[in-house]
Amino acid sequence: MSERRGQVAVLDFGAQYTQLIARRVREAGVYCEIWPHAATAAALRAAGVRAVILSGGPASVYEPGAPQADPALLAGGGLPVLGICYGHQLLAKACGGRVEADPGGREYGRAELEREAGDDTLLHGLPSHTQVWMSHGDTVLQAPPGFRPLAHTDRSPVAAMADPAGGRYGVQFHLEVAHTPLGSEVLRNFLFGICGLQADWSMASFAAEAIAAVRAQVGPSGRALVGLSGGVDSAVAAELVRRAIGDRLTAIFVDHGLLRAGERAEVEAAFAGRMPLRVADASDRFLGALQGVTDPERKRKIVGAEFIAVFEQEAARIGPVDFLVQGTVYPDVVESGATGKAAQTIKSHHNVGGLPERMRLQLVEPLRTLFKDEVRRLGQELDLPHDLVWRQPFPGPGLAIRIIGAVTEDKLATLRHADQILRDELRPLGLGQAHLWQAFAVLPDVRSVGVMGDARTYGHLVALRAVSSEDGMTADWARLPHDVLERIASRIVNEVAGVNRVVYDITSKPPATIEWE
Ligand code: XMP
Repeated sequence: MSERRGQVAVLDFGAQYTQLIARRVREAGVYCEIWPHAATAAALRAAGVRAVILSGGPASVYEPGAPQADPALLAGGGLPVLGICYGHQLLAKACGGRVEADPGGREYGRAELEREAGDDTLLHGLPSHTQVWMSHGDTVLQAPPGFRPLAHTDRSPVAAMADPAGGRYGVQFHLEVAHTPLGSEVLRNFLFGICGLQADWSMASFAAEAIAAVRAQVGPSGRALVGLSGGVDSAVAAELVRRAIGDRLTAIFVDHGLLRAGERAEVEAAFAGRMPLRVADASDRFLGALQGVTDPERKRKIVGAEFIAVFEQEAARIGPVDFLVQGTVYPDVVESGATGKAAQTIKSHHNVGGLPERMRLQLVEPLRTLFKDEVRRLGQELDLPHDLVWRQPFPGPGLAIRIIGAVTEDKLATLRHADQILRDELRPLGLGQAHLWQAFAVLPDVRSVGVMGDARTYGHLVALRAVSSEDGMTADWARLPHDVLERIASRIVNEVAGVNRVVYDITSKPPATIEWE
């Protein structure tokens, strides 16, 4: 992969919105990456960074151990800096402004931003009043010497400030969220008007660079393997590498018997003509290993271990190979701490962890710097089939983690059938795409009493889960139309043998997760 780390660095102070800031910058056509909050001005300069954004974060600037930035970045006169929320407070405090805990508690939610007269820098072109999104406990009461307040809200006397001579700017509001409708204007003012950057980053340029980088990494005779999961990440990674090295790439698809209805055929149809493809039918082996296992993390480990074993077996039949292509995406890199952030492990998603080391393969990860929606745009750029590009994420352990309790052939058949009905009913509504992050059926280990005809039944419960999300890290339950839910429920109860009750999951993430296990 190219070593270029982007013209803009977003320093991560722990906000849930940090990735969103990075994405907004890229949407403006400027490549950027997330850095640890303690990155030094010298390191940023050495990497070619030309502007710095300080993210928000959960801490108070007065807390002991509150995350700090390199003082050289805040001193002014160096790289241009834009602080957002916590970053704004940090800048204000470090430069001698007055920052205090808001006596009224947190300012949270929508607020009206009123501009002060005479600013033509950060808020250039905005109306005198505009809506912004606030979420903070500390408030900047007075701008530091050398800074000019640019705007206020009811509760924030210095909701935006600027020191144009020193290249330092701050906003209390979250310009990156959709609830700040003109947020991207503010960002563009910073990137283009203030920092003089060019919007030169596009998917076409990314694809060309990434293909060249893969070619350089694999060399003129290197051979590579890719494991297709049916998902968009591995598909896009595979296609990109194919464009770089042609049929020196072989794809392996492991059918672990935990797939949804029709999935294997879809993968075969999409890839068989594109690259050498080996399909391993290993359902018996996976189901055997999973027999009687109820613990979710054990299920994941078993599926991961079996997957590696089958993959190795298949790979051995291909002959010598040097590289393994993986569809690792940017949120995986950020979550695994590579940018300095230590995220807690809620579920272990590293389905094939350990594979490259065991097989002595070097990793090729051409999507490491992309967000999921960018991967989809790249897939379109590479002319992959529409349905594949817009496929919902599907977990590596498949239906094993959607069957609560032990996995059996019967339960798999029940769940597959119910899930297919759900997907059938959603497809014509176009809800299978952008609006929904994932929609699926779950088979809890629950039976309940029902009545069919005149007879008492004691059948399975099927739960439906549909969520909207930007990146899978937080999610909201989807407000599916009631008549659609009704149709899905009645079809499932009528058509899927042994099911007599359907429920809809209305929890968001957090506190629940998307998958039930
Ligand atoms: P959770 O359930 O953690 O899911 O809210 C977030 C996203 O990750 C997917 N997921 C997995 N993906 N292996 C995967 O490859 C896993 O073990 C796994 N568990 C959850 C989930 O489908 C959602 O998109």
